[in-house]
Amino acid sequence: MVAYSRRLKMSFIVSLMALHIVIMVTIMHQSSSFGLFEWFSQGMAMGGMTHVNVKEPNVTTNEFGLRQNVALDNFVGRHKGDAKFKSSKSIPLTNSTSTPSKEINDDEKYKLLDGLLVSGFDEASCISRSQSHFYHKPSPHKPSQYLISKLRKYEELHRRCGPNTRAYNKDMKIIANSKQNGTHCAATTCKYIIWVPVNGLGNQIISIASSFLYALLTDRVMLVQFRKDKEGLFCEPFLNSTWLLPKDSPFWNTENVQRYQSTIEMEMNNTLNEDLPLAMFADLSFSYTFEERFFHCDHSQFLLGKIPLLFLKSSTYFVPSFFLTPIFEKELRKMFPDITSIFHHLGRYLFRPANEAWERITNFYQQYLTKANERVGLQIRVYDPNSTPHQDVMNHILNCTLENNLLPRVLGTKNTSLSTSSRKNKTNTKVVIVASLYPQYGNNLNTMYQNKSTVTGEVIEVYQPSGEGKQKFGDNKHNMKAWVEMYLLSLCDVLVTTSQSTFGYVAKGLGNSRPWILYNPVNNQTKEICEREFIVEPCHKYPPLHYCNGTTIEDISSSFHNIRHCKDFPFGVKLVNGFV
Ligand SMILES: *[C@@H]1O[C@H](CO)[C@@H](O)[C@H](O)[C@H]1NC(C)=O
Ligand SMILES: *[C@@H]1O[C@H](CO)[C@@H](O)[C@H](O)[C@H]1NC(C)=O
Ligand SMILES: *[C@@H]1O[C@H](CO)[C@@H](O)[C@H](O)[C@H]1NC(C)=O
Ligand SMILES: *[C@@H]1O[C@H](CO)[C@@H](O)[C@H](O)[C@H]1NC(C)=O
Ligand SMILES: *[C@@H]1O[C@H](CO)[C@@H](O)[C@H](O)[C@H]1NC(C)=O
Ligand SMILES: *[C@@H]1O[C@H](CO)[C@@H](O)[C@H](O)[C@H]1NC(C)=O
Ligand SMILES: *[C@@H]1O[C@H](CO)[C@@H](O)[C@H](O)[C@H]1NC(C)=O
Ligand SMILES: *[C@@H]1O[C@H](CO)[C@@H](O)[C@H](O)[C@H]1NC(C)=O
Ligand SMILES: *[C@@H]1O[C@H](CO)[C@@H](O)[C@H](O)[C@H]1NC(C)=O
Ligand SMILES: *[C@@H]1O[C@H](CO)[C@@H](O)[C@H](O)[C@H]1NC(C)=O
Ligand SMILES: *[C@@H]1O[C@H](CO)[C@@H](O)[C@H](O)[C@H]1NC(C)=O
Repeated sequence: MVAYSRRLKMSFIVSLMALHIVIMVTIMHQSSSFGLFEWFSQGMAMGGMTHVNVKEPNVTTNEFGLRQNVALDNFVGRHKGDAKFKSSKSIPLTNSTSTPSKEINDDEKYKLLDGLLVSGFDEASCISRSQSHFYHKPSPHKPSQYLISKLRKYEELHRRCGPNTRAYNKDMKIIANSKQNGTHCAATTCKYIIWVPVNGLGNQIISIASSFLYALLTDRVMLVQFRKDKEGLFCEPFLNSTWLLPKDSPFWNTENVQRYQSTIEMEMNNTLNEDLPLAMFADLSFSYTFEERFFHCDHSQFLLGKIPLLFLKSSTYFVPSFFLTPIFEKELRKMFPDITSIFHHLGRYLFRPANEAWERITNFYQQYLTKANERVGLQIRVYDPNSTPHQDVMNHILNCTLENNLLPRVLGTKNTSLSTSSRKNKTNTKVVIVASLYPQYGNNLNTMYQNKSTVTGEVIEVYQPSGEGKQKFGDNKHNMKAWVEMYLLSLCDVLVTTSQSTFGYVAKGLGNSRPWILYNPVNNQTKEICEREFIVEPCHKYPPLHYCNGTTIEDISSSFHNIRHCKDFPFGVKLVNGFV
C-alpha cells in the first residue's frame, strides 16, 4: 500500500513536469474561465491604502501574444522549488481526470490546513478559504486528530445551537426573561459565550482565540459582538452557521449583568445566593492591579459551569491560564500535544480574511511581494511617540536589521552599473514591508536603499501600505488596514516585530515565524536592541497572581509545568514544551 502510493506519487511528479507546461499554457488561455486567476488579473487598486512607494503593475505580452500579469508568473513559481510541488499541483486543470485522485486528496489536505478547516463552504463567499494555501508556506505543525474531532463536534454544536436555531431562540428567551424576573434557575438546551470587544484589533484577535478555546473546553457556543468596525474583515468560521451575535439580540447590553468578580467575592464572603443568575459577565481585561480572580481554579470553573450565558471580555491571550486549571489540563494535552502552536492552529481556523480583506492582501502581494526572493516584514510600534524620537527608533531598527544580517548595508557610493544589472536579477531582490502608524520609517528605509548598491549586491525595495498617524479604535477602515497588514506580515520569510505588540503576536502566530523582537528605545536603557523570539505563541500578559487557596504565587514559571516568562514582557507568561 505504501509502496503503491509512493509509486503513484513518483509517476505523478514525473507527469507533472510535463503537465506544468500544459498548465501554464492552460492558465493563459483560461484566465477568465476560473475564479482564481480572474481574481489576480483584477485591478490592482489598493482602495484606501496609501503607499509610500508605489509602482505600476507590469502587464506584458507573453510569448503566445496574450496579455499576462508578470506578477502572476512569479507567483505561480513561488513554490515551484518545494519538494511537494504544491502550487502548481493546486492549479485547476482543464482535464481534471488526468490527475490521480490520491493527489487531489493531498491538495485538499493543503487547502484544508491538514484537516483544521472543513470543506463544504460556498467558496465564493470566502475566497481566502480556498486560496490562502497558495501564499503560505506549508506549516510544519499538524493539528492533532483529537483537536480536529473537537472542532468538527463544535461546528455541529454551533449548527444546533447558534443563532436562528430553535434551541437558540428558546434559550435566549429564557435567559432574557430571567434578567427581569429574579434568578430562577431555568434549564436551557445549550450554553453560550458572548465575546465582548475591548482594545485594538490585535488584542481582540488573541482574546477571541482564547475565548474560543474556552468554548471548546466547556461545550459552549461562542458568539461575537462584532459592530460595523469589523465589517469585511473575517469570514464566518463555522460551516452553515453564524458566529455573529444577531443585531436584535438583547445581549448587546451588558450593563446589568452580574459580574464574575463580585460573585467570587460573595462566594469568599459566604454571601453567595444559591440561586445563580442565568447570565454572568467575566471581565478578564486585566491590568497589574486587577488580576483574573481565580478564573484558573476548578472551584470557579464549577461555578461558572452552572451559568448558561457568559459574557467574556479580555484584552490578553489567556490560554496559558487553562493549563493551570486542573479540570482542563488533560483535555488540553490531548488537543495540543504540541503546546507551542495553539494560537497558530486556532488563529488559522478562526480568522480567514473575508473577500474585501483578501482582495487587498492578494493585490498587495501580487504587486509587490511576488517579485522578491525574500520578504522581510518590519512591524514598528512606538509606544510613547512624544518622548521617543523617531530617529532613535530608526537607529534601533537599522541596528537590529543590519547587525543580524536581515538587511544589507549600503555602499557609500552608488554604483549605477551594479544596481542596474542586479535590478534585473529577481533572485537577488528583497522586499521589505513596513507596518507602522508612522510613514517616516518606510520613507527613511526607502531613501537609504534607493539608487544605492548594497554590500551584498541585493536590491532592496521598501513598501509601507499605510501610515495612519495614530491608532483608531472601533474604526472599520483602520481595522481593515491593520488586518491586511497583520496578514501580509504573516506571509513574510523574515519578521521583526515590536516588543509587546499584539499586532506582531497575530502576525507571527498566523505565519508560524519566530520574529526578532524589537525593543523601543527608552531612557537610554542598556537593554538589548533586539533579540530572537523563542516561541510563536502570544504572551499572556496578566497571569494569575494567586494559587487557588489564596496564597500569592511567588514565581509562576517554577510553580507550573510548561510555563515560562515572556522575553518581551517579563511579567507575562507563555507556554513552552518541556525545557527551552
Ligand atoms: C515591465 O516590463 C518591461 C519588459 O520586461 C520592462 O521594460 C519594464 O521596465 C517593466 N516595468 C516595471 C514597472 O517593472
Ligand atoms: C482527459 O484525459 C483523459 C486521459 O488522458 C482522456 O482519455 C480524456 O478524453 C480527456 N478528457 C477531456 C474532456 O479532455
Ligand atoms: C417570570 O418567571 C415566571 C416563572 O418562571 C414566568 O411565568 C414569567 O413569565 C416570568 N416573567 C417574565 C416577565 O419573564
Ligand atoms: C451545509 O449546508 C448545505 C446547503 O444547505 C448542505 O448541503 C450541507 O449538507 C450542510 N452541511 C452540513 C455539515 O450541515
Ligand atoms: C466581601 O467582604 C469584604 C470585606 O468584608 C467587603 O469589603 C466586600 O464588599 C464584600 N464583597 C461582596 C461582593 O459582598
Ligand atoms: C548597534 O548597537 C551596538 C550596541 O549599542 C553597537 O555596538 C553597534 O555598533 C550598533 N550597530 C549599528 C549598525 O548601528
Ligand atoms: C560597479 O560594479 C561593477 C560591476 O560589478 C564593477 O565592475 C565596478 O568596479 C563597480 N564600480 C565601483 C565604483 O564600485
Ligand atoms: C542573481 O543573484 C544571485 C544571488 O546573488 C546570483 O547567484 C546569480 O548569479 C545572479 N544572476 C544574474 C543573472 O546576475
Ligand atoms: C534616485 O534617483 C532618482 C532618479 O535619478 C531621483 O529622482 C531620486 O531623487 C533619487 N533618490 C534618492 C533617495 O537619491
Ligand atoms: C541618552 O544619552 C545621550 C548621550 O549619553 C544623551 O545625550 C541623551 O540626553 C539621553 N537621553 C535620555 C532620554 O536620557
Ligand atoms: C497554597 O497552595 C500552594 C500550591 O499548591 C502551596 O504551595 C501553599 O502552601 C498553599 N498555601 C496554604 C496556606 O495552604
